[in-house]
Amino acid sequence: MAKTKSTNNTTTAQKSNGLKKSNGSPSNETSEKSLFLELFVDELKDIYWAEKHLQKALPKMEKAATTAELKKAFAQHLVVTKKHATRLEDIFGMLGKKAQAKKCEAMDGLTKEGEEIIENTEKGTLTRDVGLIMAGQKVEHYEIATYGSLAQLAKTIGKNDIASLLEQTLAEEKEADETLTGIAENNINLEATKES
Ligand SMILES: [Fe+2]
Ligand SMILES: [Fe+2]
Repeated sequence: MAKTKSTNNTTTAQKSNGLKKSNGSPSNETSEKSLFLELFVDELKDIYWAEKHLQKALPKMEKAATTAELKKAFAQHLVVTKKHATRLEDIFGMLGKKAQAKKCEAMDGLTKEGEEIIENTEKGTLTRDVGLIMAGQKVEHYEIATYGSLAQLAKTIGKNDIASLLEQTLAEEKEADETLTGIAENNINLEATKES
């Protein structure tokens, strides 16, 4: 998750608005709005880093996968992931900001888990695919949570055009998750249990 230094942010927001803090006053409300926007932008930077990072991780997962079906799913999701990063760049632009990435520790950890699966399973086995599907689904669930929240935040600040872009990405992440579930259910899990 992205970290927000609330103390510094408060100071910046107050300075930039030339406002003094007083509870319940209209100026305090403006401050709150700036802080909210700052949090929103910070979270965008976090997921932008994640989408960029995934562009490096997905080809490794594709190469490591055993079945053609799973390889294809990772390859297709790489195309979609690039689109997600471009969409985020558009969103930064709509907010009058330059696209900026901020390291997402969660995504870094999730992709490391994927690498561990590759290290700990044998090449050419279905067991490896089962592990990779799990790793892939953990990534998708993180993205689903993030985009769902971001779309909601965008609506709260009245940026419905941005919310609809975030919702498009959200739908594509859900689709990727369902594809992985479909592959897992398509006997891979059962067949993998027969591997010695
Ligand atoms: Fe994505
Ligand atoms: Fe994704």
